[in-house]
Amino acid sequence: MRDLSKVFGHRRCAVAVCASLLTLYAVSARAEDAAAGKQQFLTSCGVCHSSDPAAGARQGPNLFGVYGRKVGSIAGFKYSNALQSGDWVWSEATLDPWITNSQEAHPGTFMNYRQTNPEKRKLVIEYLKSLSAPK
Ligand code: HEC
Repeated sequence: MRDLSKVFGHRRCAVAVCASLLTLYAVSARAEDAAAGKQQFLTSCGVCHSSDPAAGARQGPNLFGVYGRKVGSIAGFKYSNALQSGDWVWSEATLDPWITNSQEAHPGTFMNYRQTNPEKRKLVIEYLKSLSAPK
């Protein structure tokens, strides 16, 4: 007769190995998403914006922590009236139309940008969101 405890013992081991492999896979997939998000941000927005907390403004204001922040709230940055007088908070709902077509979303803004690809918009928004997430 086979030693059942051995079989079960092994099986439990196999389950544990599988579970840790799955965790590793999930963690690396998330890391890949984050890297893709940062890359997309640099490509799409990096000419005019930095997301480095220690950096200043470029043509546009620094975007570190912009997700969840009230529009137009970087002191010393000269916003257009369209943004300076705005009273929304940057979120998925406000960022998506903004980067789809900034001029259409908030006429009179100094930012001239359009991104028709929803996947790219999502990557950038997720990236900005991750910078605002509690660590
Ligand atoms: C050609 C330059 C340029 C590009 C490219 C650009 N922006 Fe901007 N952005 C600006 C300028 C200029 C402003 C200030 C607009 C104003 O005051 O009307 C701004 C403002 C913003 C604001 C408002 C910040 C605040 O403090 O309220 C957000 C959010 C923003 N941009 C996100 C993005 C994202 C995300 C991208 C890339 C998908 C992007 N921008 C691409 C120039 C740019």
